[in-house]
Amino acid sequence: MKYHVVTFGCQMNTADSIEMSAALNAKGMNAVSSLEEADIVLVNTCTVRQQAEHRALSLLGRLKEWKTAREGRLVILTGCAAERIKDEVHWRMPQVDLTVGAKDIDRFSQRLDELLGDSFDWRSETSESFTEEPSPAARGTKGFVAYVTIMRGCNYSCSYCIVPAVRGREIYRPLETILGEVKAGVESGAKETLLLGQTVNSYHHDGRDFSELLTQIDRVPGLKRTRFISPHPHYMNTRTIDTIATLPTVCEHVHLPVQSGSDLILKRMRRNYDRVGYIKAVNYLREKIPNVSVTTDLIVGFPGETEEDFKQTLTLVGEIGFDSAYCFKYSPRPGTTAAESVDDVPRQTKEERLARLLEATEAQAARRASQMVGSVQEILTEEILELPDTKGIQWATGRTRGNWNVRCQLDINSIVKPGDLVAVKLTAAHGRSLEGNICSA
Ligand code: 5AD
Ligand code: SF4
Repeated sequence: MKYHVVTFGCQMNTADSIEMSAALNAKGMNAVSSLEEADIVLVNTCTVRQQAEHRALSLLGRLKEWKTAREGRLVILTGCAAERIKDEVHWRMPQVDLTVGAKDIDRFSQRLDELLGDSFDWRSETSESFTEEPSPAARGTKGFVAYVTIMRGCNYSCSYCIVPAVRGREIYRPLETILGEVKAGVESGAKETLLLGQTVNSYHHDGRDFSELLTQIDRVPGLKRTRFISPHPHYMNTRTIDTIATLPTVCEHVHLPVQSGSDLILKRMRRNYDRVGYIKAVNYLREKIPNVSVTTDLIVGFPGETEEDFKQTLTLVGEIGFDSAYCFKYSPRPGTTAAESVDDVPRQTKEERLARLLEATEAQAARRASQMVGSVQEILTEEILELPDTKGIQWATGRTRGNWNVRCQLDINSIVKPGDLVAVKLTAAHGRSLEGNICSA
């Protein structure tokens, strides 16, 4: 049997999709990249904003036809939107054969067995399609990155956010299990590990905290880079920052969602920090980690956001100088406290604020990129390819430790291959994209 996975949403969902694919592989199924070839489609959904949920659910609508086109086809719905609407799925979307909500991802394999039951005997699959129970590494490695979920859920109650409702309270995985997955990832070729959690730096288990976890991961032989998303500003204390600063594998990049620059809005968002506290954390990061990239998430049009509040966000952006920012229009989510307030910022105002914010953050990112031109950066090569605008020329693409995308033109004698760490001298910036020449492989 062949399966196809469609993933919406954040990198935690990507990690969950990798884990669920491993469960399908373990039953002798094979992943295919086209829906047409597939017997099973798994749609892993997001519900953080209404638009994200809508995209996933409209795909499910289109799958009705796909399903009837060939007998025996199955539709699996998973993730955060699945968790939110699981009680309605059977009557709203009868084409769905199995629903596994975000709180149940750990039980995916079991639920799959219940679905397939006698209809699918995986032991009778040919040896060609059968794969052994994958190692923890194969479960989480994509390209040269080992995705390792260190915690699930969120104990915060940001007033706009549906995540605590669909992912539940925080659960931390044992440090040894995490270390085992990182090691196995490196053994199967990963150069980088990406530690995942909703508030990743609130990690603690058996008296060991996030700093201890980073310290132990840093010692894994062969591991070149450690990243983590997303930390919460409240836990970005001096101990964590000092640890990040001293560990060689931990990359000089911190994605620190701020959401708003207005103290009034931050309070109503229940973010547990204020503007000054956030700036202090960033200043300390920059003091301890020279050239650290700081990126963020921002929301415009939260209920009650005035032009004055929005300007506070714009001035914060100017003050910090983010290397990049994900900017969102506020989207009321059912069941959240913010959704009880009137969504009173008109759509047009939200759009106009979003456009102004994007202009500011993109200009800032372009400025940061052009400041880097002339410097030498370590790149982890991800792909060797021909780009549509420069046919016939081979390029290596990859990311710096600060998480900037870089492309390098290769000459015919180049021996650079995906997974290589190379020193690159940056020669040009096009917006957020950088171009450079390889100095050493
Ligand atoms: N509306 C808009 N953006 C939201 N986010 C979370 N909930 C909402 C919402 N209701 C954004 C936040 C968060 C990112 C993952 O999504 O910026 O950091
Ligand atoms: Fe949502 Fe806030 Fe938890 Fe992040 S910290 S997942 S924004 S509730």
